[in-house]
Amino acid sequence: MTAGTLRVDTYLDPDDLRDALRADVAAGLTATPKDLPPKWFYDDRGSELFDEITRLPEYYPTRRERSILVQHADAIVAVSGADTLVELGSGTSEKTRILLDAFRRAESLRTFAPFDVSEATLREAARQVAVEYPGIDVHAVVGDFERHLEHIPADGHRMVAFLGGTIGNFNPSSRAAFLRTLASTLRPGETLLLGTDLVKDADRLVRAYDDRAGVTAAFNKNVLQVMNRELGANFDPDDFAHVARWNADDEWIEMRLEARREVSVSVSELDLDVRFETGEQIRTEISSKFRRERLAAELADAGFALEEWWTDPDGDFALSLSRRDTTEPTPARHR
Ligand code: AVJ
Repeated sequence: MTAGTLRVDTYLDPDDLRDALRADVAAGLTATPKDLPPKWFYDDRGSELFDEITRLPEYYPTRRERSILVQHADAIVAVSGADTLVELGSGTSEKTRILLDAFRRAESLRTFAPFDVSEATLREAARQVAVEYPGIDVHAVVGDFERHLEHIPADGHRMVAFLGGTIGNFNPSSRAAFLRTLASTLRPGETLLLGTDLVKDADRLVRAYDDRAGVTAAFNKNVLQVMNRELGANFDPDDFAHVARWNADDEWIEMRLEARREVSVSVSELDLDVRFETGEQIRTEISSKFRRERLAAELADAGFALEEWWTDPDGDFALSLSRRDTTEPTPARHR
């Protein structure tokens, strides 16, 4: 067997990331209500905490998605017809190995293209995969999937995997924009493998985001430490409480940080002073939960036809396979 090649393309360096963080914090902490995008949770410590979350008894999505992948990986590979696997937000590519193993059984994979914002994580994961799957070309891309989707490798017949339910972090309009951009990047017949958490009992949902051990609380508060370290802010995490709420109208979980008292913070690198009233909150994450019909309609709007829908036996989580239409996407509806 010939050894595969390893290539890393970078569209995002630490300076770009720093600029994006500054812009998001400047906008988010001066907005009413205050908000911050969830992507800033994931520094080294935050990624570690997220990893811990995935093993919590209350946090079912990771286990459910893994079981669906194990059960259906061979079918996914066969139905996709892909010879190139692109993984968005790949992190350590841990669940991807289930797919890579299925591709190996089918002897059908030429290229694995992990795509992530974190260059260090990506390089390490890409190197590992190149060693473990020697016949495959690994073509890693360092980028932000809201800005650099057009740079995913263009060769081959691609399946784009977007796992973990991360699409739930987008608000509805960003999600529509993301799906449209992805559809326009793919060629007809290429596929999207999408992991989505499903609407269920509100108590279970809230417990999954407010665990007894307090790991999710620490994860949420970690964004304060990120601002302290990266932007010279002086947040005291003890001034804030972790809040997780089910928003039944929008069918999403919201995580917030709530000021326990009046708080004044300065963000020195932004020359910004921020005040919080007692009880004032920063919204730090939405995590949307889905239903098949609505997702199918959104996919169709973007130019994808939903072909397969796999869930775990309890119907907690879904993996769907959608194919890029041969037709152009319908013009945006709500304009
Ligand atoms: C990685 C975005 C899928 O929304 O469930 C876990 C992140 N936040 N616990 C999710 C998260 C709080 C997670 N995603």
